[in-house]
Order: sequence, then C-alpha cells, then structure tokens
Amino acid sequence: MIGAHELRGQLALAEDHIHLNNAGVGPLTRAGQEAMHRMARLQSEQAFATIEEIIDVYNGSRAAFGALVGAPAENVSMMQTCAAAISQVALGLDYECGQEIVFCDQEYPSNAYPWYEAARRHQLVPRLITSEADFDLDLEKVLSAIGNKTKVVALSWVQYQSGTCSDLKTIKSECDRVGAWLVVDAIQGLGVIPFPEDAVMPDAICGGTHKWLCGPLGHGFLIMDEEKRAQLSPLLHGAITYGTPEDLVEPGKAMRTDCGRFEPGNPLLWGGVAGAGAGRRGGTIGNLPT
Ligand SMILES: Cc1ncc(COP(=O)(O)O)c(C=O)c1O
Repeated sequence: MIGAHELRGQLALAEDHIHLNNAGVGPLTRAGQEAMHRMARLQSEQAFATIEEIIDVYNGSRAAFGALVGAPAENVSMMQTCAAAISQVALGLDYECGQEIVFCDQEYPSNAYPWYEAARRHQLVPRLITSEADFDLDLEKVLSAIGNKTKVVALSWVQYQSGTCSDLKTIKSECDRVGAWLVVDAIQGLGVIPFPEDAVMPDAICGGTHKWLCGPLGHGFLIMDEEKRAQLSPLLHGAITYGTPEDLVEPGKAMRTDCGRFEPGNPLLWGGVAGAGAGRRGGTIGNLPT
C-alpha cells in the first residue's frame, strides 16, 4: 500500500489536472509507460534477436495480475480486453438447452451482451436480477435466483454505475451447492480495494488494465485454474493454442491446457507488460490508499 503523494509522483498527469474518473479510464503510470518504451526499444533495435527477452518479460508480467487475487501466474491468460475475457467464458462453455444464466440489470454492457449471446446460441434462459431503487443489489434476490438449472452466475465484483459490491463468498458457496459457475468481472475493484481474502476463488475472474490498475487501454486478462480452463473451448485458434511457433502442423493435435489455451497468436505485449508495470506500484501490486 502506498500513500497518495507517492502515487501522484508515479503519474504523469499535468500538475493542474484533477482526475476523478478511474472508473472510466485511469491515468497510465510512468512505470507503465516505461515498460512499453523498454519493449519498443528491444524490438526496434534487435527485432527477432530479442524475442526471448521480450517473451520472458511478458510471461513475468502474468504474476502481477494473478497476485491481485492471490492466484499463481500460470492461471493468468492475457486477453484483448475485459469484454474478450468475459466472451471467452460465456461463449466457450458447454451448455444444455434450458439452463439458466443469472446476471443483473445494472451490469456494464460488456458483462451483459456476451451472456445474451450465449443464451441465444444455446437456448439458455437469462435470469435477470432487478436492482433496488437505490441501485443496491439484494443478496437474497441473487441467492434465490440460483437453482438447479443455473449454469452460470455472472456478476461484477463492483458495479460500474453504483459501486455496489457483490458478496462473492456467499454467492460462490450457493453456486457450489448447485454446481454452477461464478464468473466475476473484477475490473472496477482490482487496484482500488483489496480482493476479499476470504472469498472462495470464483471459477473465472475477468479484468482489464485501464481503470484502477492505471495501465493502458486495450488489455484484459482471464484468471482460471487448469481444471476450469479445460472445460472451455477456445474461441480463437492459432499456433499458440496448440504449442509454439516452432511446431509444425499436426492435424488433430490436442490443445494446450495451460494459460496459452486462449492466446492464439503472438503476445499482447504492450498491454501485458505496461499493465503489470503500472500495477506494481511502489513495490506492491494494486491497492490504492483508501
Ligand atoms: C464492469 C465493467 N466491465 C468491463 C468494462 C470495460 O471492458 P471492455 O473495455 O473490455 O468493454 C467496464 C468499463 O466501463 C466496466 O465497468
């Protein structure tokens, strides 16, 4: 945890600029900028000869995202955006016709449309929880929407319009009771409030760097363990889905089961290294002073 003045020093915001909208787009930190410059320099000066170093830095940056929720680096897949991470889960799962998706009426569109699309493709039933007049989410309503037909509960940890927080621990234990997945959009919480230590790990956590992590626009991540990853079909396929760029084509080859399963091509370099660089503020990851 770092102080407000120290944090201000890590930002390149104009001295007379008052920024109050990290829920929209946060300011990229100096560390994030530097991480991008470093990668640009390496590729500019030596191109392919630096690829191992570039890939090492990139893979090293997974740890920063995982640490935000207490997950190991190997559980972090890099994605184009938070919406891409949510779509990978929503459209990559196996469903049975008539199963239900529980989500709520105040979600950001990127955490609603992928679920409507999954419902359309697989004849699922969207169970929309209605918010209270003050935008609170009634936990009892959430819990009572979860039943034997529920395949997924998809909720933001912190809602983008109201700041309402979901009680992940209680919701996850209800999901476990009926065998449903809990898929959490954590973009509005990571970097500003500590991920609840007592929260049982959701089945999938989706995030992005450009808000409270003060990283760049255009980067997301998906955090899942190996068992859950194996249950999702990748939406995008390429060399990395099946191995490395050095491998020749082997029709019928099994897909990777590690975090590269959802990373079809060359690295999402800028967002990965700069997002992680930005997140490593003052030697700690994430949480801003409260
Ligand atoms: C809850 C939530 N999810 C996702 C996003 C953004 O994700 P993307 O840029 O991938 O649509 C936002 C941004 O406002 C958000 O508030």
